[in-house]
Amino acid sequence: AVFARRHGGKPRAHVYRRRPVTEPRYTTTDGGAPVASDEHSLTLGPNGPILLQDHYLIEQMAAFNRERIPERQPHAKGGGAFGEFTTTEDVSRFTRAALYQPGVSTRTLIRFSTVAGERGSPDTWRDPRGFSLKHYTTEGNYDMVGNNVPIFFIRDPLKFQHFIRSQKRRAANNLRDHDMQWDFWTLSPESAHMLTWLMGDRGIPRTWRHMNGYSSHTYMWTNAGGEKFWVKYHYKTDQGIEFLTQDEGDELAGSDADFHQRDLYDTIESGGRPSWTLHVQVMPFADATTYRFNPFDLTKVWPHADYPLIKVGTLVLDRNVTDYHTEMEQAAFEPNNLVPGIGLSPDKMLLGRGFAYADAHRARLGVNYKQIPVNAPVVPVHSYSKDGAMRVTNVSDPVYAPNSYGGPQANPALTDDAGLWYADGEMVRTAYTLRAEDDDFGQAASMVRDVLDDDERARLVDNVAGHLADGVSPEVLARALEYWRQIDKEIGDRIEAAHRALAV
Ligand code: NDP
Ligand code: HEM
Repeated sequence: AVFARRHGGKPRAHVYRRRPVTEPRYTTTDGGAPVASDEHSLTLGPNGPILLQDHYLIEQMAAFNRERIPERQPHAKGGGAFGEFTTTEDVSRFTRAALYQPGVSTRTLIRFSTVAGERGSPDTWRDPRGFSLKHYTTEGNYDMVGNNVPIFFIRDPLKFQHFIRSQKRRAANNLRDHDMQWDFWTLSPESAHMLTWLMGDRGIPRTWRHMNGYSSHTYMWTNAGGEKFWVKYHYKTDQGIEFLTQDEGDELAGSDADFHQRDLYDTIESGGRPSWTLHVQVMPFADATTYRFNPFDLTKVWPHADYPLIKVGTLVLDRNVTDYHTEMEQAAFEPNNLVPGIGLSPDKMLLGRGFAYADAHRARLGVNYKQIPVNAPVVPVHSYSKDGAMRVTNVSDPVYAPNSYGGPQANPALTDDAGLWYADGEMVRTAYTLRAEDDDFGQAASMVRDVLDDDERARLVDNVAGHLADGVSPEVLARALEYWRQIDKEIGDRIEAAHRALAV
């Protein structure tokens, strides 16, 4: 709050509004029956023991004991809001998806998050930020589960679990540990591009409003004629990119751990309407086989010069959640929530994610999590899923297909070939086939040399040197300096010098 004031932050909105008094409302049990007292449990005499038949007291205790649900494995700390995505341009030549037809507006839920921290961890730790969208479309839910960065640390889903564990806490002391982070990163050189980004200014956005969102992955789009395209999404913030320095982030982590959550809530509550403009890069289907590097490699961007941004529409946030638990903590985003006209691509990471999220939701929220209102589509559901814990919508006969009793029938005419491509070959466990410009360091180098200005480069050097000065062993440090020299000799040398100066 101190920081927010000093940096021209908004005064806090009045967040707790009294309900308008219309008629008195009386406390009930969860079963709806009137309650005799909000203050006194049932006892044998004023000083006597509490009685087992005070089921209201027991209900209160039992409900309280069960309030917490498991937090998300990664991305546990976050918050968001509802809004409207409007397609302002005509991109129907690339996709038939209903939400991306000109003039169509779709209610949308967004959730921002940090990756490594727990539910109560500070918003301003250096970390990528999640950028998850759930679009309630007329063809079912479409989720775009991205980050505020167009690339990622690894390119095979088998490494994801190991990567996240290296970012979280050690087994013995339960502490986060820079040594294990750099150990993993330097043994996984495909992380170089992402690290250049993470250790730069965008590694601590000023607020959730002041950062872009990216699909990072390549998706497939299909138009009404069945033509296929490869697509990357870029949601550019209309508020402008702003960041916090390491010192500012550290200060806020102590003084206002929920700085980003507070900023978004207060902005919307006081009438602010944060917005992002969606652009896509579109690659013709056939280009993918001949492009100079693998376009499905998640550690690389497609240079804008090769595939320029094409505007699609605007996302405007306009409503805060009214109950964080039911509308945000129980929100279940999943990259496999796709609609006709949008499909997955051969990106191995994306294919892994196609399984991981729904599995996580079943574990965290239960098999019927799509019946929780925030996850339910706005269109009728006619699936054959049946029963299970917390099933609340009625199923009717027939409960199997095919049937001769008028049950729902699949209609291929309503779907398309998005996400279907040709594949053939031996089953192998190996990296992607290398092409001429497939390497780990080239795009990181162009970020350091061509994109960052002198001040940004200087902050990158300081951020890396500071991070390496915190508990990194000599062996891992030596590898880390070599890793940065492989990105750019000069930046590696500067990091070493800055690190040495810190050690003195
Ligand atoms: P361009 O010059 O066309 O694009 C550079 C882009 O870098 C900008 O458009 C901006 O993307 C982003 N950028 C600017 N400052 C920073 C920063 N401090 N930290 C992170 N990103 C920043 O060149 P190319 O498309 O040929 O890409 C060159 C390099 O730029 C890449 O190797 C990659 O590291 C980086 N980059 C490229 C992006 C892409 O999709 N092509 C996207 C982001 C980064 P934006 O407007 O999206 O913020
Ligand atoms: C959350 C798995 C890569 C963005 C999660 C969760 C899992 C997961 C299990 C928790 C879901 C929940 O409990 O609700 C994976 C796997 C990956 C991967 C297995 C790689 C193989 C990525 C990438 C991105 C990403 C590349 C971004 C492009 C997110 C976001 C969330 C999340 C934004 C939070 C969703 C929310 O707001 O609820 N991931 N992830 N993940 N992941 Fe990933």
